[in-house]
Amino acid sequence: MSQAPSRTVVVLAAGEGKRMKSATPKVLHPLLGRTLLGHVLAAATAAEAAGTIVVVGHKAEQVRGHLSEIAPDATPVLQEQQNGTGHAVRIALEAAPDADGTVVVLNGDVPLLRPETVAALLTAHEESKAGATVLAAEVADPSGLGRVVRDADGNLERIVEERDASPEVRAIREINAGIYAFDAALLREALGRISTDNDQGEEYLTDVFGLLADAGQPVGVYVAADAEETLGCNDRAELARLRALLRDRVNTAWMRSGVSILDPATTWIDVTVTLSPDAVIDQNSQLQGTTTVAAGAVIGPDTTLVDTTVGAGAVLLRAHSIGAQVGPEAQVGPYSYLRPGTLLGRKAKVGGFVETKNAELGDGAKVPHLTYVGDATIGAKANIGAGTIFANYDGVNKHHTTVGEAAFVGSDTVLIAPVEVGAGAYVAAGSAIQTAVPAGSLGVTRAPQRNIEGWTARKRPGTVSAEAAEQAATGDAG
Ligand code: UD1
Ligand code: CA
Repeated sequence: MSQAPSRTVVVLAAGEGKRMKSATPKVLHPLLGRTLLGHVLAAATAAEAAGTIVVVGHKAEQVRGHLSEIAPDATPVLQEQQNGTGHAVRIALEAAPDADGTVVVLNGDVPLLRPETVAALLTAHEESKAGATVLAAEVADPSGLGRVVRDADGNLERIVEERDASPEVRAIREINAGIYAFDAALLREALGRISTDNDQGEEYLTDVFGLLADAGQPVGVYVAADAEETLGCNDRAELARLRALLRDRVNTAWMRSGVSILDPATTWIDVTVTLSPDAVIDQNSQLQGTTTVAAGAVIGPDTTLVDTTVGAGAVLLRAHSIGAQVGPEAQVGPYSYLRPGTLLGRKAKVGGFVETKNAELGDGAKVPHLTYVGDATIGAKANIGAGTIFANYDGVNKHHTTVGEAAFVGSDTVLIAPVEVGAGAYVAAGSAIQTAVPAGSLGVTRAPQRNIEGWTARKRPGTVSAEAAEQAATGDAG
């Protein structure tokens, strides 16, 4: 086989996407870990192109900014007025005068497209030596889409937009997915000849097919094996539908690789997440961003993990975590909130109603109940009592607290940072600690207790409390 020609990718992302009714350009709407544009660029990597051009227009600065984050090697080209898909490609090619070989054009709003399909389209196109090849699909409801019109021999004759179509053409259910491969030279030449003689008065990229066919150039159709991949996104209802389809695709792939997903319908995993075999994901859970979950860990039910690393055998129950690292066999939840900079050692425990931020817990350290841990280092095997507050903020600056190995902090304590509790030290319940407690000492700041006898009878006569007190007194006397 001869060597593949050089390839250039052009992604069309200049449109507003009016029907989204959004301040955010359509291609920047998120879908399980990437924007629509991010998904299309990910699929386009299969082209192994020498260069990638992204045509930007509506809210160009926003799209450029996003592009510089996710695809810094791509070249944005500005289409000031959105005069149609043909106009967009023409401008892209003017900015790349040396591009030859194959030009791959992708609409920016077809996020379910698989890289394998792009590769297969390119192989079909290049092996057939066609001037242009369109990715098509047979769909139940073709409304709104361009139709593939074939001649009696089944060869592509032209692509007709629905709004320009006769009733006969509208009845065709084979649609243009908005993904194409072109011979660069033939595409340039044809784009110079397309008219704006259509219902929208725009330059249609799709007219290139009719022009090439009329000139006797072979043009091809590559029919997608899975029509779902070709679904575009025009409004938020379609976006939600695509999201559910992608959810199912992602979940199925993880289950096939050995992950237990107990309720796939309520489990939403970004395409950027990594899971290990024998991880268990229980219902109503969301795994997002760079999250990774090691073998045997149990996530959920009702747990959200964003950019979180979970070690083998850890358990997170009804937890919300952003930017945390959870060690192997650690336990979190229910109802706890791990914030960025949280680092839990092996078998560390963060129990119910605990919030942590920038907090390192050593191996086996425990923060079991109702506690805020901000800016702290807690030694291995230390125990933090219920209701402890690490007071890290003085209203201007944040300060650090260090609790030594196997220290024991009694319930309802305030540790006023910066402060240190030494290894093996104890803090008495209800203390407010603001100077160091040396290793092995007991820190206590409580006022001595005094009891005022008979207070209830004198100050709260006639209450149920007074009655109970009197009965207790009589009982004592009897
Ligand atoms: C287009 C196709 C239609 C196909 C459908 C598949 C044309 C004329 N029609 O229609 O046959 O079935 O896609 O989804 O191509 N864009 C620009 N600049 C422009 C116009 C559009 O960059 O001037 C971009 C949009 O941002 C979008 C893509 O091109 O990402 C497609 O544009 P859109 O207006 O959605 O085309 P459709 O009407 O859906
Ligand atoms: Ca569209």
